[in-house]
Amino acid sequence: MKEFSPIKEGKVREVYDNGDSLIIVATDRISAFDVILKNKVTKKGAILTQMSKFWFDFTKDIVPNHMISVDVKDMPEFFQNEKFDGNSMMCKKLDMLPIECIVRGYITGSGWESYKEDGTVCGIKLPEGLEESDKLPEPIYTPTTKADLGDHDEHITFEDSVEILEKLHPGKGADYAKQIKDCTIELYKKCADYARSKGIIIADTKFEFGLDENGNVVLGDEMLTPDSSRFWPVEGYKPGQGQPSFDKQFVRDWLKKNPESDYKLPDDVVDKTVDKYKEAYLLLTGKEFNTIK
Ligand SMILES: Nc1ncnc2c1ncn2[C@@H]1O[C@H](COP(=O)(O)OP(=O)(O)O)[C@@H](O)[C@H]1O
Ligand SMILES: [Mg+2]
Repeated sequence: MKEFSPIKEGKVREVYDNGDSLIIVATDRISAFDVILKNKVTKKGAILTQMSKFWFDFTKDIVPNHMISVDVKDMPEFFQNEKFDGNSMMCKKLDMLPIECIVRGYITGSGWESYKEDGTVCGIKLPEGLEESDKLPEPIYTPTTKADLGDHDEHITFEDSVEILEKLHPGKGADYAKQIKDCTIELYKKCADYARSKGIIIADTKFEFGLDENGNVVLGDEMLTPDSSRFWPVEGYKPGQGQPSFDKQFVRDWLKKNPESDYKLPDDVVDKTVDKYKEAYLLLTGKEFNTIK
């Protein structure tokens, strides 16, 4: 049997190289306040992988995506076991465009901080009188660079994204920059409207795109998971204040109350968090997570 080792180990995900494809594995690790916790959240990786699968299927008419299969039977033998079953996605390998395509439908976080100062978010002027967590009149595109490990992603303008892509792909920069921007907005609108009707507000999210062998723009990475997005419960949503995180609120609350815990959570907090991921999956897909296998 051919052995594999990850070509990349992120905080939460691992990536394996399989020739023309990649196997992207979401682990059960969880981060909060930018730290990896000592606990694993059982099945979190599988739930998030299946959630990405749901969204890739849901949006394939808008833009092609990199998903090939989430069935380990389609993957090399090395992956056909418990450790990878359900949490792995085999993807077409792409030439990634080094832009993080961020879209915001609600004002929160760093966006809210800068709006309070000068009425703008990432250089985009917004109407006066918005409250924290308000829905924006239209979603806004606020891309960043995709920095190497250790560096911070930097906010850039649309024109900067044209320039960055033009350097890499002469003659195509403007075209690619416009395509990924338009796709980002369209994907967000369709999915956020849908999620809201199911009880989840997707306040903002991030997509990544790459090029296939014919130079076509293809959606890659993970899609609309709570790890790449801010999910808020519709129930109790109230502008004028910060909103609880759909999935991580128990974890954050507990960590704030227990600063000496060294990022090790009690079982009941972990169990409640698993239930939140399952609930999000059920709300969005209409399927009990436990029944998908
Ligand atoms: N289809 C794809 N082809 C090539 N690279 C991809 C594809 N999909 C996602 N990636 C890349 O795989 C990596 C996933 O790693 P991740 O754990 O998210 O760490 P990070 O975002 O810090 O680089 C990212 O660099 C992402 O751009
Ligand atoms: Mg990433």
